[in-house]
Amino acid sequence: MDVNALLKKMTLRQKIGQLTQYNAALFTDSEAAVTGPAKKLGLSPEDLKTVGSVLNFSGPAEMKRIQDEHLAADPCGIPMVFMMDVIHGYRTVYPIPLAMACSFDPELVRECARMAAREASASGVQVDFAPMVDYVKDARWGRIMESSGEEPLLAGIMGAAQVSGYRGEGIDRPDSMAACVKHFAAYGLAEAGRDYNQSDCSERELREHCLPAYKACLDARAKLVMPSFQSMNGVPSTVNPLLHRVLREEWGYDGVVISDYNAIGELKKHGVAEDEKQAAQLAFGHECDVEMCSAAYFHSLEELLAEGKVTEEQIDRAVLRVLRLKEELGLFEDPYHGADEERAQSLYLCGEHRALARRAAEEAAVLLKNDGLLPFDEGIKKIAVIGPFADEHGINGSWSCRGRDEDTVTVRQGLSRLLGEDRVIYAPGCEAAGGCEGLDKAEAAAKAAEAAVLCLGEPQGYSGEGNCRTDIRLPGMQSELARRVIAANPNTAVLIFSGRPLAIPEIDEIAPAIMQLWFPGTEGGNAAADLLFGRANPSGRLAMSFPRSVGQCPVYYDHTSTGRPHFTDRAEHRGYASDYIDCAVLPLYSFGHGLSYSEFIYEEMTLSSHELKSGGAIEVNVRIRNNGRAGSEVVQLYMRDIAASCTRPVQKLIAFEKVHFEAGGERTVTFRVTEEMLGFWNFDMQFVTEKGDFELMIGYADHFVLRDRFRYV
Ligand code: GLC
Repeated sequence: MDVNALLKKMTLRQKIGQLTQYNAALFTDSEAAVTGPAKKLGLSPEDLKTVGSVLNFSGPAEMKRIQDEHLAADPCGIPMVFMMDVIHGYRTVYPIPLAMACSFDPELVRECARMAAREASASGVQVDFAPMVDYVKDARWGRIMESSGEEPLLAGIMGAAQVSGYRGEGIDRPDSMAACVKHFAAYGLAEAGRDYNQSDCSERELREHCLPAYKACLDARAKLVMPSFQSMNGVPSTVNPLLHRVLREEWGYDGVVISDYNAIGELKKHGVAEDEKQAAQLAFGHECDVEMCSAAYFHSLEELLAEGKVTEEQIDRAVLRVLRLKEELGLFEDPYHGADEERAQSLYLCGEHRALARRAAEEAAVLLKNDGLLPFDEGIKKIAVIGPFADEHGINGSWSCRGRDEDTVTVRQGLSRLLGEDRVIYAPGCEAAGGCEGLDKAEAAAKAAEAAVLCLGEPQGYSGEGNCRTDIRLPGMQSELARRVIAANPNTAVLIFSGRPLAIPEIDEIAPAIMQLWFPGTEGGNAAADLLFGRANPSGRLAMSFPRSVGQCPVYYDHTSTGRPHFTDRAEHRGYASDYIDCAVLPLYSFGHGLSYSEFIYEEMTLSSHELKSGGAIEVNVRIRNNGRAGSEVVQLYMRDIAASCTRPVQKLIAFEKVHFEAGGERTVTFRVTEEMLGFWNFDMQFVTEKGDFELMIGYADHFVLRDRFRYV
């Protein structure tokens, strides 16, 4: 399709239509659509005939009906593009992105994104509002569950893996979709962890932590960018001059920018636009090409053009970006993009997809503590499965698209599959956030079994968009339940289901084993059973620090030293030091932490040189032996810049590799360290690597087992 020639044939109204996106609900043929949502938006039936894209449709049949009706009515014959939030699976749901980041396995993330793309594209999805790679360090923020955690390097690698999985062999293929990276930028720094709240950060912080992951996703060929709702340094991201300059000028991004839901309409509430017309002028002037679910462009662009406040060239530039996206998707040739109800149904929850979701849930789980209780022996006579999440189907987590709780496998079902129902005693104990009538029965169940699995957590509605907490402890009476059950049976393993790190020091105090399952998705119960009995060996490592209390938030691993650093090896308060009188400074569990049933011994780290010259590289070899069963280890390489013109983190992850070991196996992992990996944004906003001493560390945050130094000359 010659989109430039097509553009020339379009009327202004048709061009403006391409710059808008609305819910599928506006395109039903019911009168309600016209007198309801469409009227509320001030859109005429004629307007709706020119709309360029649709979100939140129910499946392939509705997508095709809307597309057919549109093409019949649109004189330019421009197909609509259909978009949806497929964040961690379409119908087969795998763990939330924060959990997937804990797998430290980009290939697994790519495979899961591929699976999601197969199911979603067959169902009519052509653009995916994912990956979300917002930098986040505050467990109070509900959307932490969508993120890949507190390390930009990891978030960028995981985001790029998702983009690659969604696009497969190309976005025009019937089993692929284009990725929209979001939310640009600094949304995860919302003050006080309260969603949509302002974020205020220096340009240095923005460039050090917030921007790299978006760039990694654009380099991986994400096709759209979505600015974030909140104001960043006083200006909403949708109209933020700094973000506009970085994206369009510095990075040279010339693809589609699509607003978040009604974000242009909300510029008035932000107080940066007096009215809808000014909102349209601001957003369009900052090259926000497509307006999602508000009507400022429909209502005002023609007038702004007539007043010379926007130009025909600007409008044509935005329309061409949309038309090029549709062309790349192949929509002019196949407006359905290969969507097919029968193929979709054959893919949903198929054996291959369930198996992958199960493997993902196993790899994303993090064994936080194990005093030797796990793995359980399959010869066990009776096991009690207790707690509000013991038989809970609601473990898909937020943003689970067309996933259905009834399709998930509960922990109780997983254990019954593995052991047989007759060996599993079930007692809910208490509700997740409510009553506790069952404490006595739970205690009795624990006593009656050789071992117990205590399934605790926060309801899946406690995280996700708009769901932030000021108290990140286990809700309700769950801690009391834990005390009673563990007292009744010391052989109790605790499983935690949550969309964020929870503050669980009281559980850490009394439980001999704790495993973080996050929201593991469709196959969560089977994965839990396999992990508890050693059919799967835990290999997840934390992508987020676990606070001891909400009072520590934000707590994150790559902090600076301060001039009066706290003790790193003991908790007590030390007068004039950067610590607390009532809490240790280190998190309960540090970034990169995670245990295994194997026993990895880090024997030696050797450097090819102790001097790095500009343009050169140092080869770092790390020899590791596995004294235990076969399993995977995430080998993590950190660095510290000993002295620089700006304060630098006491530890910074610069590389990692997930490595499989046979029982008794030994491996040497090689990393290549270059000056680029040591660089940072200096006070004058230049990316530099300054000469001087650097330390390399092997282990995980706050817990290193091998160290060495070199000098960058
Ligand atoms: C939401 C979210 C965004 C999502 C969009 C469309 O409010 O902020 O992540 O892609 O609306 O559903």
